[in-house]
Amino acid sequence: MVPGDPILGLTEAYNADPRPGKVNLGVGIYYDEQGRIPLLRCVRQVEQAMAAEAKPRGYLPIDGLPAYDLATQKLLFGAQSAALEAGRVVTSQTIGGSGALRIGADFLKRTLPQAKIAISNPSWENHRVVFGTAGFEVSDYRYYDPASHGLDFAGMLADLGALEPGTVVLLHACCHNPTGVDLTAAQWSQVVALVKERGLLPFIDIAYQGFDKGTDADATAIRLFVDSGIPAFLVASSYSKSFSLYGERVGALSVVAADRDEAKRVQSNIKRTIRSNYSSPSTHGGAMVAAVLGSDELRAQWEQELGEMRERIHQLRAGLVSKLAALGAPEFGFIQQQAGMFSYSGLSKAQVDRLREEYAIYAIGTGRICVAALNSGNLDKVAEAVYAVSRG
Ligand code: LMR
Repeated sequence: MVPGDPILGLTEAYNADPRPGKVNLGVGIYYDEQGRIPLLRCVRQVEQAMAAEAKPRGYLPIDGLPAYDLATQKLLFGAQSAALEAGRVVTSQTIGGSGALRIGADFLKRTLPQAKIAISNPSWENHRVVFGTAGFEVSDYRYYDPASHGLDFAGMLADLGALEPGTVVLLHACCHNPTGVDLTAAQWSQVVALVKERGLLPFIDIAYQGFDKGTDADATAIRLFVDSGIPAFLVASSYSKSFSLYGERVGALSVVAADRDEAKRVQSNIKRTIRSNYSSPSTHGGAMVAAVLGSDELRAQWEQELGEMRERIHQLRAGLVSKLAALGAPEFGFIQQQAGMFSYSGLSKAQVDRLREEYAIYAIGTGRICVAALNSGNLDKVAEAVYAVSRG
């Protein structure tokens, strides 16, 4: 036996819990006001059209649906990106963002067998597992400052600056998972300059594009890396959250190479890596995303629906903070400064255990809560329980 997964294992325990009124603040999923995973209107429309067409199901190419890959590149790098124009970017549809990370990890391990990787402290629980399983030695760079509930930027710069040249550095583009603590654009500029000067290889994870400021603003880090002229970097992206298509496993791996020829060589290696893992991705989710992003009208509708999710999360943060303050716990104000679905609440493992055992509220042992799982029906209960365990 090995220990259960800290995130998905918690959902298993939540599902098995018979108590009414239970709340799952563990896994990173956006739930609507009724506590349901939304089916976006743009997705429903495309899916109905696809069902009516009832197309045969051939294999996709190894690197996925070309229209999906192209639309993903434009969303990440900007439609007018000079790097796209120059043919320096290759994108492959993958089995979710996790699949993109693993394909990228396997590709890097084969191409740069001596390279190590550094991830933020803390990082998404699965980063260490994915890169460790791919054979990487995984180290941390300082990121979160528990005292301020914010960024330890000086520590981050110091640690990145001390990494061996050639080290892969995993960076969260926006809505940092698990802390909700992001860099400003000015801080990103400093990190980009340092990473470039130090000869590090950035691997950017962007699973929450559009959940903080908007699709373009949330891609600031990617655009700054391209503009810096850094010779190469990787991007793992996901539509799980932004399209509410979790189980469709819609992700992508993009690699920016020095030039068109290198990009072609990279893509040949990526394709071999995919073929030897799962052969090719599945059709349905990718086809839906490509259809939405490929239509001006549906794309605009998607941006609107994504904006609604984003705005609602901002309101939920504000609601939680104000309820906690009204109960007599003003120290949780930092939750409103954090971005995306998650907040590092500052609760200890023992306090999280009490939330689960006494109140049927599930959170990650590190204190991470998914703010996007709150609604007007459970917010008071959660605030009261958080208040109680923080005072007990
Ligand atoms: C999360 O962090 O909760 C999500 O990204 C879901 C997952 O696969 O862990």
